[in-house]
Amino acid sequence: MLSKDNIRNALQTGNGAVNALLRSKDDSNHIRFVLENLGFLPDDFDGSVVRQFLQHRQANIRLLAIKNLGKLKTLAYLEDLSCAAFTDANTNVRREAVSAIGRMRSKRAWDVLMRALEDEDPKIVCQAIRGLLVFKGEKKIDDALQSLSRHENETVRQIIAREYQPASVTRTAPFQPHTAVNDCLKNVIVCGDTIEVMRCLSAESIHLTFTSPPYYNARDYSIYPSYEKYLSFLEEVFREVYRITKEGRFFVLNTSPVIVPRVSRAHSSKRYPIPFDIHPRLIKMGWDFVDDIVWQKPESSVKNRVGGFMQHRKPLGYKPNPVTEYLMVYRKTTTRLLDWNMRQYDRKTVEESKVKGDYETTNVWQIDPCFNKVHSAVFPKDLCKRVIQYYSYRGDVVFDPFAGSGTVGRVAKNLKRHFFLTEKDKTYFSYMQSQKREPLLDNTPTRFLSLKKFAETVSCQ
Ligand SMILES: C[S@@+](CC[C@H](N)C(=O)[O-])C[C@H]1O[C@@H](n2cnc3c(N)ncnc32)[C@H](O)[C@@H]1O
Repeated sequence: MLSKDNIRNALQTGNGAVNALLRSKDDSNHIRFVLENLGFLPDDFDGSVVRQFLQHRQANIRLLAIKNLGKLKTLAYLEDLSCAAFTDANTNVRREAVSAIGRMRSKRAWDVLMRALEDEDPKIVCQAIRGLLVFKGEKKIDDALQSLSRHENETVRQIIAREYQPASVTRTAPFQPHTAVNDCLKNVIVCGDTIEVMRCLSAESIHLTFTSPPYYNARDYSIYPSYEKYLSFLEEVFREVYRITKEGRFFVLNTSPVIVPRVSRAHSSKRYPIPFDIHPRLIKMGWDFVDDIVWQKPESSVKNRVGGFMQHRKPLGYKPNPVTEYLMVYRKTTTRLLDWNMRQYDRKTVEESKVKGDYETTNVWQIDPCFNKVHSAVFPKDLCKRVIQYYSYRGDVVFDPFAGSGTVGRVAKNLKRHFFLTEKDKTYFSYMQSQKREPLLDNTPTRFLSLKKFAETVSCQ
């Protein structure tokens, strides 16, 4: 059986030996194995040995042939590769060909790469941009690339913005070290409308927001004149959250579709898909979508909707029991990678913040709901614990604009994070006051403030 050693030996012997090896069997698996394992090619390698496979019927073999030609970085195959870039039926093959042309790093390849900028496949355009960026600073190239700033594809626009207007994509406020925490936000609960409270805060002061907003007209504390007004309200809240969130940090939003009961037997109940309707608004204001986590509850804990169907079994009348809610995970737009956020912390903080022991491996989290005498929709502690552990570091400020009974605060404190909560309902605010616990972090006691008092504290800073 052919081994990697056989291929290495053939390479050392010369082009003829490699060619003989490739032609020794007309079997795709054999050819693929050889092409895949050629590794580093010597300077005197004859590209025609692999060029012969550019027309192979299998796309993965054509792709490997191009990969190997790309290693040679020679203009000798510019025409072959251009032909593959614009005519091959497979988009990965075409992209690899553009990549191989870029690797030539030659002005003679400019025209081909410029032509690839007009390709209908954004992956090809991005690859061509990559090849041309090597010549950034040359007027012809800069003009061509900058003209893509209005390209219809968002990734293309992002790459160009990052290269040519880096400041506009990253910063919404002067940079502050991520470990810097404003004292006004350490373990504070403010009684007031969250939008008004947030307006007192300076930009980029929060590390993580985890919240469950009021459910549209499903509970007493959440009555809105219309669904559109409700969505606009949430939009306004989350736009402020965006402003006060640090660059590249996370926002985890817990929602689920709600049912508003029917007015009479002559009407149907109406189901509102909150997560799906709020999502496009969040993206539009700049949040990058990261993950959708499904919180699954035991069927016995939710309202029974399937009972009617169980009796009649008639199609169209099927209504499953809703056992899930969404945790939609978003990140504040940045051109920086997560590593940049992680590097903001010293080694000790990173070590202490590591998630030890068991952790969730899938995006379906099975957690029992929690019931509370005072508040009808409290977070289970375990849900908060996971979110806070996975998306924040020790000493960070975790924010919940819709605090309710204050679960996020209590769990954040236990995990040695600071918390900042807002809640407009005085009953829930008093409940949180009654739950006051001893300070755990930095000896910072919990402060309960009115909006007026909080505004004064902030303006004193
Ligand atoms: C779904 S509950 C949050 C429950 C919370 N996750 C807990 O664990 O207790 C939503 C909360 O948002 C509060 N709320 C609604 N509108 C608000 C606003 N404009 N500003 C501050 N809080 C608000 C409601 O009073 C309610 O307590």
